[in-house]
Amino acid sequence: MTKQVYLPDDIPAVGKNILADAGFEVIVGSGRERQTMKNEGAQASAVLIGTQPFDGDMMDSMPNLKVIARNGVGYDAVDVDAATKRGIYVVNTPKALSGSVAETAVSELLAISKNLYQNAAAIHEDNWPYRKAHPGRDIAGKTVGILGFGRIGQQVAKKLSGFDVKIIAYDPFAKSTDTVDIVDRETIFKTADYVMVHLPAVPETIHSIGAKEFKMMKHDAYLINMARGAIIVESELVSALKNGDIGGAALDVFEEEPLPVTNPLVGLDNVLLTPHIASNTIETKARMAIDATHDIVRVLQGEKPESAVNQ
Ligand code: DGY
Repeated sequence: MTKQVYLPDDIPAVGKNILADAGFEVIVGSGRERQTMKNEGAQASAVLIGTQPFDGDMMDSMPNLKVIARNGVGYDAVDVDAATKRGIYVVNTPKALSGSVAETAVSELLAISKNLYQNAAAIHEDNWPYRKAHPGRDIAGKTVGILGFGRIGQQVAKKLSGFDVKIIAYDPFAKSTDTVDIVDRETIFKTADYVMVHLPAVPETIHSIGAKEFKMMKHDAYLINMARGAIIVESELVSALKNGDIGGAALDVFEEEPLPVTNPLVGLDNVLLTPHIASNTIETKARMAIDATHDIVRVLQGEKPESAVNQ
């Protein structure tokens, strides 16, 4: 019987062609709702998912499953132990997106420093004078503190290298380079004008940034989070933004996604909020689709995947 690959979300044609050319049936689903995925994926040998939770119960509803491919790098929503116990590979696409996520992080750093979002909105509201009361900030001469100096953190440092900033980073596994000093975690919060979060969401990092860290930060410093919402204690961030403990935040990720419009972050005037778009570019989506589907093909053809996070 032809093996099925289930895509709850559609992916670029280049990825679907890789699967079809390898002889698999591609099932494009109708969304991420749990029961819908169980029904549509019931016969699947492989599934390619976004950031939706994928636990043992979901795996059991797909008894032919051999590989769960994450269309991205973070696999915090997948129960990897449950997959390993069931002999299912979990693969991801770490090489495809570092550049794009770093570009978005730097874009948000620039945008929040120059009040780009508020100024652009003001002009549509016939409010030219808005700019007078809301001057931006220079980036040159500032200190950028990167939490997590893996692939993405390193790309951020590279892209900021022309901005005349001092770059420091915290990462227990990294060493200082010619342009980036590895420092302790406290130094990041105490001295950086921009604290940029590029950590994986693992038990040690979940809710690891809260009131204590915001109190350490400079009153005019910005927090920029492109990693996972759960790393921050969001309610404490809201207080820090309201109390003026920190100057502002640019956030692409949230504890709850999609971010409900009733969330207290919405409407604050010192935040830039974007809907988890850091890797959402035409080029990067194509690269992720290529990497993920190649690994699906490898597993379903009995080969070892290139980017397994288990087994
Ligand atoms: C990732 O790759 O984990 C991004 O957050 C997009 O899913």
